[in-house]
Amino acid sequence: GAGSGVLSGPVVYAHRGASAYAPENTLDSIDLAMQLGFAWVENDVQRTSDGELVVIHDDTLARTTDVEQKFPDRKPWRVKDFTAAEIARLDAGSWFAQEYAGARVPTLRAYLDRVRRNQQRLLLEIKKPELYPGIEAQTLKVLGEAGWLDERHVAQRLVVQSFSADSVRLVHQLRPDLVTAFLGTPKAAELPEYARFADRINPWHTTISAEWVRAVHGLRGAHGRAMEVDTWIVDDPATARKVRDMGVDGIITNAPDVVQQAVDGF
Ligand code: G3P
Ligand code: CA
Repeated sequence: GAGSGVLSGPVVYAHRGASAYAPENTLDSIDLAMQLGFAWVENDVQRTSDGELVVIHDDTLARTTDVEQKFPDRKPWRVKDFTAAEIARLDAGSWFAQEYAGARVPTLRAYLDRVRRNQQRLLLEIKKPELYPGIEAQTLKVLGEAGWLDERHVAQRLVVQSFSADSVRLVHQLRPDLVTAFLGTPKAAELPEYARFADRINPWHTTISAEWVRAVHGLRGAHGRAMEVDTWIVDDPATARKVRDMGVDGIITNAPDVVQQAVDGF
């Protein structure tokens, strides 16, 4: 499929941005991915208590911000219990390195604007949708308001993925033109069910084999093309070459430069 094959090798996605080198899911991490030459960035979308979509991986703010210092009495610091204004005050960079002090948890709107300005492409994950009823339609609304859905080529610059099959199915039903991916490793016999609403299957790298990748490639996905596989999280050269040789179409990595160099070699 597009971007795959012997000559070009797998597409390399910068997971949470270039998150080995800059704080994950910040504008700094996507800017760095761009500077390193990577078009595709992955992120995680959740929702604040007052209904703003924000880009953060964990369902609490503790690991990747200074929330414990700024709001010591708000344990366990759930994203969904804080307002957008409160989250905007947090430092999302210092935990990673002092040079990133002052980085913020981006709103999805700000994040989309930056990805677009950088002329990058987005693998958008709807994270823990069971915590955020209606987040699928809301994400599509924000994408629309940011101008992403008018784009003639939206299908080449956006993939929406989730570990929740229900969420992926809903996104497909709401916007049948979008490319979707299911995060997981369905058994071969179950793949045809996923092919009804997904174009791609994105498994953890330890769970796959060349045979399984062939089984996915043998199916036609939601848009009638052979289904593709993007695997995660591969940060070392040996594993990158191993999954490349299994025939994956994409590798989602914190260290895109390392993986690109590995898959370009022999
Ligand atoms: O893009 C795949 C990967 O991000 C899924 O796992 O926990 O990093 O969101 P996680
Ligand atoms: Ca993710």
